[in-house]
Amino acid sequence: MPSICINQVKNFNGKSVTIQGWLYRHRSSGKIIFLIVRDGTGLLQGIVLKDSVSTSIFQRVTELTQESSIEITGIIQKVPQGQKAPGGYEMEVTNLKTIQHVDPKNPFPISPKEHGIEFLLDHRHLWLRSSRQHAILRIRHQIIRSIRSFFDKKDFTLIDTPIFTPAACEGTTNLFEVDYFDEKAYLTQSGQLYNEAAAAAFGKVYSFGPTFRAEKSKTRRHLTEFWMVEPEVAYATLDDILILAEDLIVNIINHVTQYCRPELEILQRNIASLEGIRTPFPKITYEEAIKTLQSLGSKVVWGQDLGGTDETILAQQFNQPLIVHRYPIETKAFYMEPDPINPKLALCVDVLAPEGCGEIIGGGQRTTNLELLCQRIEKHQLPIENFQWYLDLRRYGTFSHSGFGMGLERVVAWVCGIEHVREAIPFPRTIYRMKP
Ligand code: 4AD
Ligand code: MG
Repeated sequence: MPSICINQVKNFNGKSVTIQGWLYRHRSSGKIIFLIVRDGTGLLQGIVLKDSVSTSIFQRVTELTQESSIEITGIIQKVPQGQKAPGGYEMEVTNLKTIQHVDPKNPFPISPKEHGIEFLLDHRHLWLRSSRQHAILRIRHQIIRSIRSFFDKKDFTLIDTPIFTPAACEGTTNLFEVDYFDEKAYLTQSGQLYNEAAAAAFGKVYSFGPTFRAEKSKTRRHLTEFWMVEPEVAYATLDDILILAEDLIVNIINHVTQYCRPELEILQRNIASLEGIRTPFPKITYEEAIKTLQSLGSKVVWGQDLGGTDETILAQQFNQPLIVHRYPIETKAFYMEPDPINPKLALCVDVLAPEGCGEIIGGGQRTTNLELLCQRIEKHQLPIENFQWYLDLRRYGTFSHSGFGMGLERVVAWVCGIEHVREAIPFPRTIYRMKP
């Protein structure tokens, strides 16, 4: 008897197979029981007819509890026209083995009724089994696949940057400090500085891994541990990486709308708004962004970074991702290249997702100037001795180069149309939560 996964049932029409999974739900109408079984690849309806199985099997099925682990055997058949069952196939069950019967006195904690978000997050290890969470994390998986294949096809080399680092990349306010034998280390905020070193060795590189920020803010866009993909390209300008960012985003959207339709439907995502994403994206300068915001009633003034609300208001003016470039250099990290036309501005870019999901990409052109870099490291009160290796990149064949970082969870949240990034990662870490 072949043991198969539910997503393969269409290849076994009329055949007897075994499926190993969990009971999602069941209902009985006297002589017939309908089971919905899930195995991680899909849902399958099993039909148990009282007259076709032994009394003991029928009794066992009647008493089955939600999320009991089971093995069912039976004949796969196409669902007759006019009848409904997930996936369009069902199984006439001939045998059922219970692997573990969930104790009815201590039932599976998550039922179809409404639960509060804190309860669900406390039970994240079990919540992952529900259809919405399953759909979100399948989409995350496909987004990761599309990102990797995008860079691999463009001949980028993957560089795995370290997680323990001696110094900050993105400012000292949200660093996680850890004891590292006799020294202090910081959990990486970004792989960028290491990617810059690698770009001088390989030309086009990218890192893709977890990054950490001790974010004290409790917003729907902030995690303390999140995944970032960071390309870095030797001899690329700001304009070059803008095009790269646009291509990457459109590639992700095309991949998801092609391969994740069932998941998007489970999430009731407006697919048309994703399919309408096209390059080139609208582009405005920081200066224009400030003027637009002020005209819309925001109190923001020139020189401030844009807050979450500002980003939402701005992005709502467009139904495409919005590119905002050339922020005041003082609001940005130490490594930014000044704009030669106005050195008060940085050659940098943020990409804001539509539908209020905020900044999904931040990046820009890196300064090539050793002296300026030393001054800015000092000004940002960073320990220059820990940056000597980085300064070597300007001593030994300095080169113009650019790159960006894209926050995976924010992209997943946007694509899935979910409110909060905490559902976009299997086990979210936020200021108030690092369990389970
Ligand atoms: O804008 P950020 O801070 O840029 C950097 O770290 C650069 N060193 C990247 C580079 O140029 N290689 O972060 C990049 C992106 C943001 O646009 C956002 O999408 C995401 O990372 N991000 C977060 N996502 C979730 N939770 C947080 N606390 C995040 N902080 C940043
Ligand atoms: Mg940023």
